[in-house]
Amino acid sequence: MVSIQIVLALSNIMALTDVIPSDRPLRVAVLTGAGISAESGVNTFRGQDGLWNGHRIEDVATPEGWIIDSEKVWAFYQERRRQLKDVEPNSGHLALSELEKRMEAGCFTLITQNVDDLHERGGTENLIHMHGELRLVRCEVCEHKFEAMDSKHLENDEFISCPECGHAKVRPEIVWFGEMPFKMTELQRAVIDCDLFLVIGTSGNVYPAAGLLGQALSSGSYCVGFNLEPPLNVDLFHEFHQGLAGELLPLFVQELIDIMM
Ligand code: APR
Repeated sequence: MVSIQIVLALSNIMALTDVIPSDRPLRVAVLTGAGISAESGVNTFRGQDGLWNGHRIEDVATPEGWIIDSEKVWAFYQERRRQLKDVEPNSGHLALSELEKRMEAGCFTLITQNVDDLHERGGTENLIHMHGELRLVRCEVCEHKFEAMDSKHLENDEFISCPECGHAKVRPEIVWFGEMPFKMTELQRAVIDCDLFLVIGTSGNVYPAAGLLGQALSSGSYCVGFNLEPPLNVDLFHEFHQGLAGELLPLFVQELIDIMM
């Protein structure tokens, strides 16, 4: 059992109060990583039991790995895709969708590094999957993108062909190491424009995602981190809350909603 440690609990509320603009609605951007889905039973990448402990990143998460052994890469993501059916959003995902509902339209953006679909199933609407989505596949020849989650797609590890051009082997719609994350302009705009930037469940190892915190700070956003262990960039946060996202976020979101009312 991990205890929750809320750093600066009292000044926290004071500081948050200061963050609310007097002349316009509050703008919030959120960055999530694997930690927010951990309590739903999805493995994180690093640390004990991390996904990268049993696999070499070069083998299963690079364009070169796909060229060298696409069977291995496809089987790796098929397994992850099948797992989606067994997991549900947790109280952390739900707290963030509750926050979005309480905010003015267009003032909340959730950027996730996660390729699972737990944020959308938890009710979040304005969502950017910067590292792609497990549910989707993409044809490398004609670029046709489609959801491939039917039982016929998941029952074995055979490649799926493209229904548009007939190419025999579509790829996972995942941003691999060495590839550019999706929607960078849009997500950087949300980070630069926000008053409050929340960073949840990410170790701060992978760029450009880890660099968004610096961009938020440079543009004057108040930055709050939530993580089980201090991430690499912990010193940059105005506030850091150590503990389980599923326990910390409902409390924090309620505080913020109370302040906004
Ligand atoms: N609540 C909050 N934080 C948690 C929880 C939890 N219940 N469980 C684990 N964590 C924290 C861990 O302490 C760790 O710091 O979540 C973090 C997860 O870090 P990583 O496994 O490195 O995942 P992430 O930062 O999302 O990885 C970034 O790396 O491999 C790539 O593309 C992949 O999107 C991924 C990217």
